[in-house]
Amino acid sequence: MVCQAMKQLQQEFEHELLACHTRKDIEALSVRYLGKKGLLQEHVKKLKLLPPDERPAFGALMNEIKTYIQEKIQQVKKSIVEQERAIALEAEAIDVTLPGRRSWLGGKHLISETIEDISRICKDLGFSVQVAPLIDTEYYNFEVLNFPPDHPAKDMQDTFYIEQGILLRTHTSTVQGRFMEQTSPPIRIVCPGRVFRNEEVSSRSHVFFHQIEGLYVDRDVSLQDLMWVVSEFIHRFFWPELKVRFRPSYFPFVEPGVEGDIECLLCRGAGCSVCKYSGWLEFIGAGMVHPQVLRNVGIDPEKYQGYAWGLGVERTLMLRYGIHDLRLFSENDLRFLTQFRHF
Ligand code: PHE
Repeated sequence: MVCQAMKQLQQEFEHELLACHTRKDIEALSVRYLGKKGLLQEHVKKLKLLPPDERPAFGALMNEIKTYIQEKIQQVKKSIVEQERAIALEAEAIDVTLPGRRSWLGGKHLISETIEDISRICKDLGFSVQVAPLIDTEYYNFEVLNFPPDHPAKDMQDTFYIEQGILLRTHTSTVQGRFMEQTSPPIRIVCPGRVFRNEEVSSRSHVFFHQIEGLYVDRDVSLQDLMWVVSEFIHRFFWPELKVRFRPSYFPFVEPGVEGDIECLLCRGAGCSVCKYSGWLEFIGAGMVHPQVLRNVGIDPEKYQGYAWGLGVERTLMLRYGIHDLRLFSENDLRFLTQFRHF
């Protein structure tokens, strides 16, 4: 009878064991059979009820079953742990054959890149790159450059003043007086940078933009040298056959002053809406350094002459790429900027 009951217990155990799939299941099963209040313990209590001569055999059987259950539980537990580990490993598995993810690279702004391009061309032509401060005096922005005291550019409507006599430079020409004062000829420099004007922000004007200034001072410098260097620069920046022409113009700090035009990049001179049907685009302001400017910085105009030029970086890019809105350059919209990245 007792033996029968034990066999049944073992069978039930086998059956329940099959239903164990997790660690939790197996722990519960272990408690249910081997725990202090477990099923095996129930049977141990019966031991006392048996006649003394049957007790040793029953005890031995109990021990046998207990060992059996313990071993089985250990076995299944081990296989469950292994299985769980295998599943976890698979979840973490890395497919080393997949192509790498491309990381997002920042890049230089179109304006910086263009300034670098232009500076490089100028360096190749023998110019060195100089910087001048964004905040400067009225003297370097206007006076030393021969602007008369009542010149309209000095108006508060056109220029941002910080305090009396101190302003945000309105052009990179400030480098002229600053550099010529410190150095003696020969001088061959370019100065790129930001300039500021008190303008209404629109597609065609902004409160800041960028220019590159060129300045050359030496003996026997002529207008012809200026025209050569400007044409050469244009041919290196755009393409070699691009037509260039010069027209007389006026800036207080040059005499004579000229404006350099390039053949319309779009219609190649045939006439279109971009060049207003003239076939030409205004590209660069330039001229021979005014003798009064040379005198202002202590250079003898009888011995030395010079030329200077200044061009707008945004304007150049607008012509080159057909961009119609100046505001795009300062809005930092990546949809606009990434179009010009070369990678
Ligand atoms: N500074 C002038 C401007 O801002 C450009 C210029 C530079 C003209 C040098 C002549 C010589 O318009």
